[in-house]
Amino acid sequence: ASGQEPDSARGNGGELHQIAGGETPTLTTALGTPVSDDQNTLRIGERGPALIEDSHFREKIFHFDHERIPERVVHARGYGAHGYFETYESLAKYTRADIFQRAGEKTPAFVRFSTVAGNKGSFDLARDVRGFAVKLYTREGNWDLVGNNIPVFFIQDAIKFPDLIHAAKQEPDRAFPQAQTAHDNFWDFISLMPESMHMVMWIMSDRAIPRSFRFMQGFGVHTFRLVNAKDESTFVKFIWKPKLGMQSVVWNEAVKINGADPDFHRRDLWDAIQSGNFPEWELTVQLFDQAFADSFDFDILDATKIIPEEVLEPIPVGRLVLDRMPDNFFAETEQVAFMTQNVPPGIDFSNDPLLQGRNFSYLDTQLKRLGSPNFTHLPINAPKCPFAHFQQDGHMAMRNPVGRANYEPNSWGLGPREDPQRGFRSFADAEDGQKVRLRAESFADHYSQARQFFNSQTPPEQRHIAMALTFELSKVQAPAIRERMVSHLLNIDETLATTVADKLGIRNMPDPAEAAVPTRDDLPPSPALSIIEN
Ligand code: HEM
Repeated sequence: ASGQEPDSARGNGGELHQIAGGETPTLTTALGTPVSDDQNTLRIGERGPALIEDSHFREKIFHFDHERIPERVVHARGYGAHGYFETYESLAKYTRADIFQRAGEKTPAFVRFSTVAGNKGSFDLARDVRGFAVKLYTREGNWDLVGNNIPVFFIQDAIKFPDLIHAAKQEPDRAFPQAQTAHDNFWDFISLMPESMHMVMWIMSDRAIPRSFRFMQGFGVHTFRLVNAKDESTFVKFIWKPKLGMQSVVWNEAVKINGADPDFHRRDLWDAIQSGNFPEWELTVQLFDQAFADSFDFDILDATKIIPEEVLEPIPVGRLVLDRMPDNFFAETEQVAFMTQNVPPGIDFSNDPLLQGRNFSYLDTQLKRLGSPNFTHLPINAPKCPFAHFQQDGHMAMRNPVGRANYEPNSWGLGPREDPQRGFRSFADAEDGQKVRLRAESFADHYSQARQFFNSQTPPEQRHIAMALTFELSKVQAPAIRERMVSHLLNIDETLATTVADKLGIRNMPDPAEAAVPTRDDLPPSPALSIIEN
């Protein structure tokens, strides 16, 4: 830009007209028609009615009227940045994924950080899980590692996800709270869901109020597989570790920051990257085989469990650097579509029932949110490697198969063909069993790792957990829900339970919650009834 102001003039009504000329381009309609006047609608006489003939006005308002798209059903508030992933060493022994074949290989990346429960306009320092979604534009297609800053999840089976999110978000009648877990519905659901107790310890900890995105870890959460060229599988957990280390704020600070600067995390990432202070994470992997998996009492398919790093050290395999902010927030950060099912050859899924459900959900929700099956045509979602397929048409198709053939096999020798060598082959795991709706008993221990996490915290960190639980549960109106939570805490740490109970004014300690998974016969009576009784 020349830095020169465009020529300007005042109209009849004193309105400002800035005029094109020199290096200032001519304003046009979306279809390229030059616009003579962008200040006044076309009307009959200077004070007369507006004319529907004014196509510039109609196009401008029409487009404005349709600017909004649905916000994400979860993780609505987010902030993204571009960068690259650099591979340290070849991992060919474990995976044939192209991204891990060559030391020093750089792969373009886009990362979106987010909160989960709050709406798009909510504040950054809510007590919440943070999304850590990474899109890696590999030479063999996009790999989306859609993780969080906490290594476990609330639920074991994706069928409970809508219930979890309904309970966590604003209550349907009053439409609040918009971005907090401090309400009856959330704690009601959690207290009825013992499998969430490990995650509850993490979200009540300082991890849920990070100092900035730059000081957070990221976790793929689920057990995935690496598959090598010989079709041998190794289980893997992915962990991102921030070069700056981890930092959190304390709750008092979080509350003040939310009031003073709801965009605190956004501003931090923007300022850091714009000033050349590029945040960096190391990707580490925990690699293990079936025999190692079988050595645990818990199930490696259970997303409410971690494999402790003391037991299995994460190995660094590469680094992620974020060095460029998007040119346009909407085009990139809003329209980016992450999908857990996007994995390149050499990376595969485990049977984790949460992961399997996610693999359906993300593709499905992108259609709703972005409005067309052609959302992969958007530059932020398109692969950066060569691609060729016969998909065609649909709303907003920007690329269609070229030439006569839009199918295969064909006799014309036209178009792409399958490639048994290079192509993605699902790991041929042997599966056998009846169709059932049952959860394995290996998913039944809900307290050991919650206790392990609480014990791993320093005394100040433990105090923060107790204070967070007290604050959150003090907002809960129903005494039965508070007591039910305390009954779970008794299975985690007695001092924690009694501290929270004491601060909540609970005089008669409840019995510890039933620690085993209830069978259908001994399920408790309807919780709604027990709340009324209280
Ligand atoms: C969005 C992580 C579980 C459905 C997201 C995002 C992240 C994330 C990071 C934001 C993506 C973005 O920035 O655009 C996780 C993790 C989970 C989990 C780590 C458990 C380990 C689930 C489950 C489901 C689900 C079980 C459904 C069965 C969704 C949906 C979105 C979403 C529908 C919105 C996607 C969009 O509109 O772009 N999730 N999620 N998630 N997640 Fe999950």
